[in-house]
Amino acid sequence: MPYYVKVGKVPPKRHTTFYKEDGKSLYREELFSTKGFSGIYSNKYHLYMPPQVESVKEIKMEGSPEWSDAPLKYYHFSTDKKQSNGNFLTARNIFLKNEHCVLSTANVSEDTGLFYRNSYAHEIVFVHHGEGEMFSEYGKLPFEQWDYIVIPKGTTYQLKFKDHKNVKIFIIESDTPFDIPRHFRNEYGQLTEDAPYYERDFKPPQFIEPIDKLGSFQLILKVANRYFEYSLPHHPFDVIGWDGFLYPYTFNLKEYAPKVGKIHLPPPIHLAFVTEHFVICNFVPRLFDFHPDAIPAPYYHSNVDSDEVLYYVHGDFMSRTGVHEGSVTLHPMGIPHGPQPGKTEASIGKKETDEYAIMIDTFTPLKVTLNVKETMVEDYEHSWLEK
Ligand SMILES: [Fe+2]
Repeated sequence: MPYYVKVGKVPPKRHTTFYKEDGKSLYREELFSTKGFSGIYSNKYHLYMPPQVESVKEIKMEGSPEWSDAPLKYYHFSTDKKQSNGNFLTARNIFLKNEHCVLSTANVSEDTGLFYRNSYAHEIVFVHHGEGEMFSEYGKLPFEQWDYIVIPKGTTYQLKFKDHKNVKIFIIESDTPFDIPRHFRNEYGQLTEDAPYYERDFKPPQFIEPIDKLGSFQLILKVANRYFEYSLPHHPFDVIGWDGFLYPYTFNLKEYAPKVGKIHLPPPIHLAFVTEHFVICNFVPRLFDFHPDAIPAPYYHSNVDSDEVLYYVHGDFMSRTGVHEGSVTLHPMGIPHGPQPGKTEASIGKKETDEYAIMIDTFTPLKVTLNVKETMVEDYEHSWLEK
């Protein structure tokens, strides 16, 4: 929700007659809103009535079982050890989850003609590898490597990749919206001068002609852990125009402008998105602290209120041994963590870092799935022991 956008044709006044070219039949207006009618919203204008559905049936999707007796400890696992196949929906492997947040990865090996709507959760699809286009009622949204695709709950969409040679996505689901932190906006809603991004860094969908097709179109609808297949009698991307604040958009990790200080600044300085139950921070290449005696590596800390997840994207991570692209570390709330032996000393005098990583701090504990058990680095919890 970075700013107001208008795409395609909309009537001069909302909630008034808007006729098709025949001058008799109406476009069908749909208000798409959050927080009931009190949050941000958009108005979409369809060729056909949006509620039309021909059949509904529940379907089973293979799940990622929870590791029910997993010990409370530090975890390091490699998501790349759990390669998957399938489309952007069926290829998902869940690694971590709680009632507000689900984290999964997928190696997408094929496109699908199915449409998908997550009715229960907002999604961020981080495109680790791959490029393509997202199609939705809002139009076409091109994406490339390291784009965050921010998708509001309830959006009907498809992801189409340019090719499937090496596609990997990291998906973050949230039961509350991904918001831009309040302190990055001024009193008028514009991003402030000291925000780590600017409105033009956020890319909204582009117009495509509405698809006027009747037939049978299959939509997979997710509600919490249940999936349904809806058969729609018309193509869902039948929108002639829309406007408002609620729409999918992209933001590229490389566009994040980090802040540096004289001495070590705490993790909230890397904030990118917030939800009601967790936050997302971006670690990107930056100069280190410039006090002559600064220690660039973080001090040991107990994040007593949050589970800390790091998804490693690229480069050398200065405070951690043995992590690589696709690694995830989980440092649960209430137990201290920080640099491993030698990493603090090694950071002294360093001028810059080229790391790229995404941090997710959840305010309620995460549960691990059997995928973690399968891909974890044994003895990671002992990696701080000084020999
Ligand atoms: Fe931390």
